[in-house]
Amino acid sequence: MNIPFYTSTREYHNHKDEFDAAVQGVMERGDFILGNEVTEFEKEAAAWLGVKYAVGVASGSDALVLGSDILGFKDGAEVLTPTFTFFASTSCVARLGGKPVLVDMDEETLEMDVAQAAGKVSEKTVGIIPVHLFLQPTPMQEVMDLGRTYNLKVLEDAAEAWGMESRVDGAWRKAGTIGDIGGFSFFPTKTLGSYGDAGLMVTNDEELYRKIRSYRVHGSSVKYHHDYIGYNSRLDSLQAAVLRVKLKTTQEAIIARARHAKHYTERLSGIFGLRIPSIGEENRGVYYVYNILVPRRDELAARLKEKGIGTSIYYPIPLHLQKCFAYLGYREGDFPVAERVCKQILALPIFPELRDDEVDYVCDEIIRFYK
Ligand SMILES: Cc1ncc(COP(=O)(O)O)c(C=O)c1O
Repeated sequence: MNIPFYTSTREYHNHKDEFDAAVQGVMERGDFILGNEVTEFEKEAAAWLGVKYAVGVASGSDALVLGSDILGFKDGAEVLTPTFTFFASTSCVARLGGKPVLVDMDEETLEMDVAQAAGKVSEKTVGIIPVHLFLQPTPMQEVMDLGRTYNLKVLEDAAEAWGMESRVDGAWRKAGTIGDIGGFSFFPTKTLGSYGDAGLMVTNDEELYRKIRSYRVHGSSVKYHHDYIGYNSRLDSLQAAVLRVKLKTTQEAIIARARHAKHYTERLSGIFGLRIPSIGEENRGVYYVYNILVPRRDELAARLKEKGIGTSIYYPIPLHLQKCFAYLGYREGDFPVAERVCKQILALPIFPELRDDEVDYVCDEIIRFYK
């Protein structure tokens, strides 16, 4: 069997007519830059998430850079952020001259250890970037309490978090809509993925909304009048058209992912030494990624590859050990949980169109490997 880690082609063929018509519509109208599809998608996405404002940008990485700039995560200011995450969660602050202050993780949920973050607040700390990794949000009640105590701005890295929820102040809220600004990625593999690069920024604050809209078009709200030194970071109309098609079935996609995850968990739970991350009580998860933590991880990945099964390692190196962040002065051993997890973690194929017999094949091979 040949089971890709991820593929968009099954989905495309299932809804080919709709995707083709949506893309063709943009080409017929020729409104490529911030056209009708972008405006409509922004409205539909905001309604889906239950947030007041949504602004389409070019990528999840850009959402974090624009968000950091607008919230003042720059020029020597300190920002709390996990060491175990994708590069863009931290480079957004570093590239603006801010100082990322790294934090270790919880070994059970794989999310940032917020209690440790609290111990790292200094007079220079202005904000926190909770990153909602893989299947659930960072404990957002703890993050918001910390933010209120120390007057910190909260920029949610919700790149992976479409559909995830957290209970905050007694109410269930969609990840990304809880802090000051949330940034989503629509990178193709994501739960809501486009057919290229795309991203979204959301907020409930009208003033921040106006700033975000301005920042994505060179800091201008009136053409050729520039209030800020902004960026060129617009959601492409063709991608917005694709995203509108996918938004209609995103709930079904989330349910299909949950079904595959349950299937994996049932078959793999008994394997000695294999761990499956747990979901926190105050969270409702979405399986963007299905991870296992295993001994002899690299050997297992090689065996699965031989058997035609695609896997992925998120993330092989924590950010405190990345060459470009050596100037922050961290050393091996500073974040023991993240360092351990990086050596054990392995992501298995999961996407809505995966078949049950394919999940069984992956599980059979893993069980055989550990026998
Ligand atoms: C946690 C996290 N942050 C940021 C990003 C950046 O998003 P993009 O690839 O859309 O720039 C990604 C995804 O790639 C991500 O997983």
